[in-house]
Amino acid sequence: GQFAKIIATASYTPDNVVTNDDLSQILDTNDEWIYSRTGIKERHISTGQDTSDLCIEVAKKLLDESGYDASDIDFIIVASMTPDYQSPSTACIVQGAIEAKNAWAIDVSAACSGFVYALTVAEKMIGGSNKRGMVIAGDVMSKAVDWSDRSTAVLFGDGAGGVILESSQKQHILSSNLYAQGKKANCLQSGKSPVTNPWIKSDSLSKENSFEKLSMNGRQIFSFVVGNVSKTIKDYSEQIDYYLLHQANARILDQVSKKIGQPREKFLQNIEKYGNTSSASVAILLDEAIKNEILTLGSGQQILLSAFGGGLTWGNILIKL
Ligand code: ACO
Repeated sequence: GQFAKIIATASYTPDNVVTNDDLSQILDTNDEWIYSRTGIKERHISTGQDTSDLCIEVAKKLLDESGYDASDIDFIIVASMTPDYQSPSTACIVQGAIEAKNAWAIDVSAACSGFVYALTVAEKMIGGSNKRGMVIAGDVMSKAVDWSDRSTAVLFGDGAGGVILESSQKQHILSSNLYAQGKKANCLQSGKSPVTNPWIKSDSLSKENSFEKLSMNGRQIFSFVVGNVSKTIKDYSEQIDYYLLHQANARILDQVSKKIGQPREKFLQNIEKYGNTSSASVAILLDEAIKNEILTLGSGQQILLSAFGGGLTWGNILIKL
């Protein structure tokens, strides 16, 4: 078939749970501030596992769920803003670990929009010899944040989620729309790697050239999302049963729901347990909703995946399950 459908979902988070009270031991913060402004209660933080480790756990679960052998997978796309290496790609590490010997592998970089971007790319690839692919989004944000900056450190968590996409006679992914606004890149920056070589005078190495931890203008992103992202979501005339938005802040979900005039109950939420897991958040939300039987593959339910983040990037995918 010429179309693509999701046939399995999975997610994985590290065992170590860090509560808001735990954070107040190491930062000048408290549960009341964090919960009332973001909806976050706790997050999972790696005690050593890197992004590829989380993604490999998801890949193994996807094989278990689907019953496929690793050799049945034709491609692996990983979305991450915190890859283990610049090379090899995280997708290649996953491909090697599960021995998906027939799969090609690439990474996609779109920060918190990573899963929505990668799923869109994957959907376009399905066809011909690409019958089946894994799309995995994973981030270990705990290695990117500045743990002395309370305004960002309390927001993020580590995790990964993904799907197997397979060719289908019927259309399931009804539309996908991706957007970027690179002019607003400085709203969220992380992991600048400096140019250093024997031809660079050491005194010309500015502060700007040094490796940077994550910095974010939360206010600007908040209003950008409530304004622009709401506008693109409002355009859908189709019936939508549930909205699966990037989990950056529960108050963003409240405001988007108001802006587009759709009941808040339609906006799934799990930020209280995971914080903002960047690219992984929509994938984890989707897997949980399926495991909790709120959503069922093959049911015909219509859902809108919507993610936004660094770049700035954002995107919406309308899916008939
Ligand atoms: N504990 C206690 N006080 C704090 C903390 C903390 N953890 N962090 C900040 N404060 C203080 C600030 O210092 C400030 O104090 P001041 O008024 O005395 O200066 C006060 O709280 C208010 O801080 P603001 O940053 O103005 O708080 P705001 O209400 O804007 O909430 C937040 C901040 C939660 C970050 C919000 O702006 C937000 O959620 N923005 C969206 C983030 C987002 O969507 N990011 C995109 C995805 S991320 C990605 O792509 C990887």
